[in-house]
Amino acid sequence: MTESTSLASVLEDIARADSETALQDLRLKWVGKKGWITQQMKELGALSPEDRRVRGAELNEWRQAVLEALAEKEAVMRDEAERRTLASESLDLTLPGRRPAVGLLHPLTRMRRRIEDVLVRLGFSLAYGPQIESEWYNFEALNMPVDHPARDMQDSFFVDVPGLVLRTHTSPVQIRAMQQHHGRLPVKVIAPGMTYRRDDDATHVPMFQQVEGLVVDTHISLADLTGTLTAMVRELLGPEVGTRFRPSYFPFTEPSVEMDVTCAVCQGSGCRVCKDTGWVEILGSGIVHPVVLKNGGYDPERVSGFAFGMGIERVAMRIFGLDDLRLLYQNDLRYLERFQSGGGLDIQ
Ligand code: DAH
Repeated sequence: MTESTSLASVLEDIARADSETALQDLRLKWVGKKGWITQQMKELGALSPEDRRVRGAELNEWRQAVLEALAEKEAVMRDEAERRTLASESLDLTLPGRRPAVGLLHPLTRMRRRIEDVLVRLGFSLAYGPQIESEWYNFEALNMPVDHPARDMQDSFFVDVPGLVLRTHTSPVQIRAMQQHHGRLPVKVIAPGMTYRRDDDATHVPMFQQVEGLVVDTHISLADLTGTLTAMVRELLGPEVGTRFRPSYFPFTEPSVEMDVTCAVCQGSGCRVCKDTGWVEILGSGIVHPVVLKNGGYDPERVSGFAFGMGIERVAMRIFGLDDLRLLYQNDLRYLERFQSGGGLDIQ
């Protein structure tokens, strides 16, 4: 070793090293590429054969001893590290397990499915149409002339491709469904889906959902309309709900009616949600206009029909008594989970 150290003191330094870096430093200092023992070995060539043999054996012995000491110390350090990890990470098998969060359907999806379910049980089948719709299906075919206010740029989202629009209602599926039936009777479909309008405030969002309904057959009358819709609403809101129909106007129905139900929040006595009237509007409907039947490929002299369109958000707002529809679209789970209790929608 150097003049001032001995093998014993080097081995002792190794045994006393208190960190991996300290140990690494000692390794470099003695047996590393530029370590002292390594350097000495390189200088053996300059010695006489006799000295070289003696010195070589000595250096080899030292090197061997240092390497062994390093390996031993490393093993000790590894054991200690493992013991420390085990002590700090001990498993407590008595702790309760962590439950993975279970996904839930969005309240509006549940509302839509519930409406679909009721209508399918009343004999309707599901029909679908594209969300990017032609102006013909969305407006013209439904007897909405070119100068109709809904066709204003302010109200509809037009697409760069001329003649296309994000459908402003599900009513175009009435035409598509009739065309797909090729004149067969009856047509009895509902069309749920996304619709788009340039509205954005507390009670309107630009993307919303509707459920359309269409029945075409021989001898369909307003009585079929009121009977079917009353049955649907009683099934959805409970048998004691009050209903009424008011005359209205839609270009694609004649006559047109709107349906009101007694307010679920105040049971009809008047409150903020129903603006003190005791009633809330739930859908638009009417007897299908002859022009619409014709555009669907049916003869208005031979058949008649009724149709209705319902805004799912609107129904949900009224049923839940919500002021601000936008909350349902902000995807804050703490808010949405309030509508999930009891396994079903808590609708009275
Ligand atoms: N499409 C109408 C709207 O979005 C709703 C509607 C009214 C649909 C009367 C109908 C209907 O099928 O007969 O406001």
